[in-house]
Amino acid sequence: MKKDIQISYEYFKNSSELSDIEKQLFERAKEARAKAYAPYSQFFVGCAVLLENGEIYSGNNQENAAFPSGLCAERTTLFWVAANFPDVKVKKIFVVGGPKEFHEKNPPIPPCGACRQSLIEYETKQNENIDLYFSSMNEEVVKVHAVKDLLPFYFDATFL
Ligand code: THU
Repeated sequence: MKKDIQISYEYFKNSSELSDIEKQLFERAKEARAKAYAPYSQFFVGCAVLLENGEIYSGNNQENAAFPSGLCAERTTLFWVAANFPDVKVKKIFVVGGPKEFHEKNPPIPPCGACRQSLIEYETKQNENIDLYFSSMNEEVVKVHAVKDLLPFYFDATFL
């Protein structure tokens, strides 16, 4: 039996098409990106998280001379948020990434597989979908309405 999975997403050609809060998140993610510690890849990623109380927190990728010991921007940010505000729901996550010297052709940077899995843990825990935006420095933005949409057949606690 053949089955299909469909995901819907929104595409913004330019950040001017975003709402005010989305624009704020984009700006915060860009500010965080500028402070990324990525001396090995020269690939800079910033992330901004909007909580249900309206607060915004941000983070970036942190690399290490022992390469696998570094961490992506999404996990750096969300782990910090979860550690400090374990009972506050996350509404939106905005990611912006690209090479340090970005080119206008650089496409929106989607979260890696490990980040998708990690973010889904919190989406499941809070029992409410998180809007996820990923973008490039050239202002193109993709929005999905749940992190789960990016990881069909995700693994979670229900299997344990
Ligand atoms: N990176 C992120 O921070 N987020 C992603 O979604 C993709 C990759 C980081 C990890 C590493 O520091 C650099 O980008 C190159 O892979």
